This record gives sequence, structure tokens and C-alpha cells, in this order.
Amino acid sequence: MSLKKYILDLRKRREKVQQGGGEKAIEKQTAMGKMTARERILALLDQDSFTEYDLFVEHEARDFGMDKKQLHGDGVIIGTGTIYGAPVCIFAQDFTVAGGSLGLMHARKITKIMDHALKMRVPLIGINDSGGARIQEGVNSLAGYGEIFFRNTIASGVIPQISVILGPCAGGAVYSPALTDFVFTVDKISKMFITGPNVIKTVLGEEISMEDLGGARVHAEITGNAHFFANSEMECFDQIKKLITFIPWNNKQKAKAFPPRPPKFDTPVEDIIPADPKEPYDVRDVIKAIVDDSDFFEIQELFAANIVIGFGRMNGETVGFVANQPLVLAGVLDTDSSDKAARFIRYCDAFNIPIVTLEDMPGYLPGIDQEHAGVIRHGAKVLYAYSEATVPKITVILRKAYGGGYIAMNSRHLHADFAFAWPTAEIAVMGPEGAANIIFKKEIEEADDPEAMRQLKVQEYKEKFANPYVAAAKGYIDSVIEPDETRQMLLHALEVSGSKVDYRPEKKHGIPPF
Ligand code: HXC
Repeated sequence: MSLKKYILDLRKRREKVQQGGGEKAIEKQTAMGKMTARERILALLDQDSFTEYDLFVEHEARDFGMDKKQLHGDGVIIGTGTIYGAPVCIFAQDFTVAGGSLGLMHARKITKIMDHALKMRVPLIGINDSGGARIQEGVNSLAGYGEIFFRNTIASGVIPQISVILGPCAGGAVYSPALTDFVFTVDKISKMFITGPNVIKTVLGEEISMEDLGGARVHAEITGNAHFFANSEMECFDQIKKLITFIPWNNKQKAKAFPPRPPKFDTPVEDIIPADPKEPYDVRDVIKAIVDDSDFFEIQELFAANIVIGFGRMNGETVGFVANQPLVLAGVLDTDSSDKAARFIRYCDAFNIPIVTLEDMPGYLPGIDQEHAGVIRHGAKVLYAYSEATVPKITVILRKAYGGGYIAMNSRHLHADFAFAWPTAEIAVMGPEGAANIIFKKEIEEADDPEAMRQLKVQEYKEKFANPYVAAAKGYIDSVIEPDETRQMLLHALEVSGSKVDYRPEKKHGIPPF
């Protein structure tokens, strides 16, 4: 007897469920400029690589008319596939089915694929497009979120976790992306907020659009919740694919190595930095001049732009870059840039990615706003993250390295493995102007020409301390190098630290200044 009838029956069942919320709901989704959950998965993963699980899962809710509702796949698609051959686990919420709302079975599907990702030690990608907790399912929905948050936390630092916000991500649902490593957003499509416009209107009487409250730009520029901003879903998928090439599958592996390539950028490094130390420049040009193929993949580009973070390759291997950006606020550390840098350093450390720090900054941002915003607590995160990290850590001081900033930006005192400085480096407790005003206060005040005396003292201080040679004489800087030697020195340092071993005392965990 032929099996044909069983196979045809299976196909019919599959086809029915794969329609999601049906034609009308799909039309609505498309009219909003959004792809469907299934289209998204297929566009992101390698062709023909997606294998779906739990297609036939159904909800078991009975209240508020739910007993009469069939929700295909319970509003979420889960499965496995590959990106450039790298295995990934994925889920995508289907807004066409009950607004992608999260009920018990929906949550169970997500936690099943999360457990699978953790057990298989492969990256997890979650595409969020949902109205949040399924209101009809009450506490079961909340339980579902709790189980997801728990798994996000346990998997943190073991497998890469990527969240993609392609629709609403409302209420407590936002905390899952917030617990993951990288959050991707798309202009006009992503909406992330704890309390929506309706509640705000009821409680506060204020009218605000979802876009202004928690659109992609808000999270990419202001809150820092988003790491990537794209203009379309396809651009967003290209960004995710590129990220996947830079990171390892799990914390026991290294990122895949690529064939080494020289930088494409042919401007000599020394021509990038202006002769006047007060003039700014774009530190990304320095990075592009030293990484393979001049290919720098920047993260959180629009947030706290006074620090630049991202991945590049050196000799074909992934390196994390942390660089002060003199173009923005002179590259100072403040609350946001400290958070941005500290989290990235911890990511690199967790996933065996060496860190190269490029330093040019006048210290922490002064002022009452920053003090009251907690610059002490936030700034401490940078010190903690660098000190805790055991991956190879290399610093190059390009120009200014003043005060706490000098220590914080991966100085040898926080156990950097290599510290290099350009001859233009100025390493001192503080800037020469401020220093002279304090320590020569009396001489300046009592001089016949205080301004001339001030200038003299500034110059005196500069000659004594604002150079790399005092630090080099004490061994705090391993080598003063020419700017054009930077790539070579970094390649060498990375090569010799390839089998670095560094231990920290055994403990349950540290207590970072969160
Ligand atoms: C059940 C929901 C739902 C939800 C949407 N739907 N959200 N069903 N529970 N949370 C359903 C709608 O009833 C509708 O069903 C379909 O999804 C599409 O929704 P629309 O409102 O028609 O779509 P749209 O106009 O695009 O608006 C989308 C929206 C809005 C902005 C997301 O639906 C909305 O505000 N939803 C509630 C968002 C929210 O406050 N969530 C927080 C829940 S509390 P039909 O059958 O008509 O197609 C929470 C706490 C979690 O999440 C705490 C965890 C710690």
C-alpha cells in the first residue's frame, strides 16, 4: 500500500499552518512595510538551510474565547539553520497570529529552541514582533517571559545571543533583548517600550507616538539599547550575517579565521593625525589604516559616539577595538561611553576575542550633570571590565592619556599585556593647562605678567610630563613607536599572545558596578 495519502495529508497540514494568521493579516503586515516571520527567517539564513520544529504546536488556553481560536504555530516559528555555514538556532514571532502575543505554548517553543542553542553551543537569534504577554492567558504568559529571561541570563557569555526587533516589542518583553548581546533595529519598523502610548496617555495625559517613544533611532542614538540601526529589513539581515562572521559559535571556540589581507586604506597612519594636538580627527580612520582589508565593523555607531567599538581582523583573526573618538567631546569618557565600552570589553573577553585599545582622551567628562548621573559608578565599569579580562589586551596611546582616563583605558596597571605609545603621546595626571594653574597658582598670581607666567609654566609642565618618555622610562609603556609601525607592532603582539594563559582567583562571580 502506498504512503502517498499520509504524505499528502502531512503536506496539507503543513501548508495550512504555514499560512500564519491568514491572507488578511499578512496583507496588513505587508502594508506596514514588514516581511512575514517566515520570509524573515528564509531571507536571513543560508538558502534551503532552515529546518522548522514545533510547527503543529497549539495553545491550550480556554478563557476569553480562546477555546474557539486556532493560532497557527501559536504565533512563533522556531528552528535551526546556517548563516555562511555557521549553525544557528532561531525563533521569529509571527505578528499575523494574535499579534505575535506570547502565551504559554508560544513561550515553550521559544524556550525549547533556547535550550537547544545552549546545549548545542551555537548562536541564538530571536526575531521579535509581538504585542507582548498574551492578555487572555494571564499569568501563564508572565511565566513564559520569566523562563525566557532566565535562559537569556544563563546562556549569557556561553553562546552569542542576537535580538532583532522587527515590530513592536512591548512591556516586559523588552527585557529579553536587553539581556542579549546584540540588538538590531530597523527604522520605522522597530518599536521598543515598557509602557505604550495608550498607558502613557491614560496615566500621564501625554500624547506621544510609538516612534518618538521607542523607535529604532531612539534606541540607536539615545538609550543605547540598540547596537545596530538599518534602513530596511534586508539591510538589517546583512548586518547580522556580517556580525556572525566576526564572532565564535560559543565561548570555547575562537572566531573563524579568514585569509590575512593588508589594509586597503593607503593613507600613512601618521598623516591621519593633525600636528596640532588640539585638532580632532576621526579615530576610525586610524583603525581602517591598520585592520585587514580596512574592514571595520562598527557597533553602536550612533550611541555615545565619543567612544568607538567594533570588530576588525588582523592577520585574518577577529580583534575587538575600543578607541576614544577625538571628533566627539574630545573623546572623553562619560556615563554612556563607559557603559558602551565596558559591555563590549566583557563581550570580547567572554568570547576569546583579543582587545586593542586606541587611546586619545583628556579624561572623564567634568560637570555636575555627569557627577549626578553617576559617572563614578559608570566609569568604574571600564576599570572593572579591563581588569577582569584575560584575553590578550593591547593598548596604543596616540595622543592624550590624562588622569583616570590613562589608567582606565587598559593601562599596564590594569594588566594590559602590551602598552605602546606614539611619540605624540602625552601621559600626565591632567592636561598641562589645568595642571599649571593648580601647582603654579602662587607663582602665576604673584608674577608681574600672570598670563605670560602661566604660559611659561604650562610649557614647563608639558616638557616635563606631556610626552611618552617619562612613562617609558618607568616601563609603564613598553615601546614608543612610530605611527606607521602600529600595524606591525599589533600583529606581533597578537601573535605572541596567541596562547596567553592568565588566571583570576576562583570565585562564584565578581560584583561589577552595574
Ligand atoms: C493578546 C494581542 C496582544 C496581546 C495584540 N494582540 N497584542 N492579543 N495579547 N498582548 C492582538 C490584537 O488583539 C489583534 O488581534 C492582533 O493582535 C493585532 O493587534 P492590533 O492591535 O490590531 O495591531 P496594531 O494596531 O498594529 O497594534 C499593535 C500593538 C497593539 C501596538 C502591539 O496591539 C498593542 O498595543 N497591544 C498591546 C501591547 C501591550 O501593552 N502589551 C503589553 C502586555 S503586558 P485580532 O484578533 O484583532 O487580529 C506585558 C507584560 C509582560 O507584556 C511582562 C513580562 C515580565
